[in-house]
Amino acid sequence: MSLPTPDFYDYPWTPLSTATVADGFVHLAWPDGVELAAYELWLRENAIGAGGVDPATREGLFDPADLSDSITVRSAVVAGDGSLTAVFEPDGVEAHYHPGWLRHVADGQHRSTSWLPHATSWTTESMPEPPTHDGSTVLDDDDVLRAWLDDLVGFGLSRLSGCPIDVDFNERLASRIGAVRDTNFGPFWDVKADITMAGAADTNSTANTNLRLGPHTDLPTRETPPGFQFLHCVQNEAGGGFSTMADGRAVVEALEAEHPEHYEALTTLRWVFFNRGPGIDHRWSGPFIDHGVEGSPLTLRAFYPVRGFPDMDPADMPRAYAAMRCFSQMADSDRFKVASAFKPGDLVGFDNRRILHGRDAFDSGGKRHLRGMYIDHDEVLSTTRVLRRRASS
Ligand SMILES: [Fe+2]
Repeated sequence: MSLPTPDFYDYPWTPLSTATVADGFVHLAWPDGVELAAYELWLRENAIGAGGVDPATREGLFDPADLSDSITVRSAVVAGDGSLTAVFEPDGVEAHYHPGWLRHVADGQHRSTSWLPHATSWTTESMPEPPTHDGSTVLDDDDVLRAWLDDLVGFGLSRLSGCPIDVDFNERLASRIGAVRDTNFGPFWDVKADITMAGAADTNSTANTNLRLGPHTDLPTRETPPGFQFLHCVQNEAGGGFSTMADGRAVVEALEAEHPEHYEALTTLRWVFFNRGPGIDHRWSGPFIDHGVEGSPLTLRAFYPVRGFPDMDPADMPRAYAAMRCFSQMADSDRFKVASAFKPGDLVGFDNRRILHGRDAFDSGGKRHLRGMYIDHDEVLSTTRVLRRRASS
């Protein structure tokens, strides 16, 4: 049995037991007791063909202005095969609905959080090393790519080892995931450190010096900072300079529990973040810890080199600084911070808005070259959902 659905997925055939029309809803039920209240205008919008969903694009065609109160469901019955048949007034359109597609809505699998790994907070005790996958096969093996993305989304941090060390590897990896987020640093950028160049670096970023970089998130100067960051090591002769990662989600949870006054300050008081490079003037004002609207990913704005101005009442500034100091000390502590060496062929991916990344100071000479790129949450989550749904079917 088969019916087209308003998307391109294959759904298991889960026959309905009853369909009852009442007060503008079609109340659906399955034999196992699961129910769905389907509003008549929503059903009409999702009728394949007849001006509902385009059979080719599977996208909705109804302009909301045309969804008048005169459109009602005249009848709704469970067909012999367990699908739903509905007839609408005033045009008499008869529509057929795949029971598995309706069931996926009843089960909540249509939500933006569905088909994704659950976010799992971690500390150095629970995750002393980044989860690591095989970079030599990630481009060709969907199972490896899916496993790596699962950890990237769930823990906010996931590493590949054994990747090719050519400078174009990021570009090929991005072609498996989605569009690269371009910035004023370019779509693919270099983080180069040469300890013999101390004090002489010609750069517009602290990242390209030999200095320690405290825990931070990149580009809080943007309305939406880049979602994920990927750093591919193509050369490392230097000693020290370990990559440090701390789960900002875990730090936020600990701060809320242990220092609620600091949590309140960091989630409400705003700062202006300011990229002051020659020829650019990116600015955004927001809180240090930004939960956004319900369902939004956590966004930490934690990059002191570009934190420009308090955007708050002067009376709030002392507590704003005290709260930032506490948060940053926690993020930099052994309780939360994992340090690991970068070997040529390593690639570390992390949620740039959740994970606080940094770099210890270098302690011996040599060059280190990382190639970086950003890919936004939308792209990574889309590919993760597709791979997980494909693997489950
Ligand atoms: Fe950074």
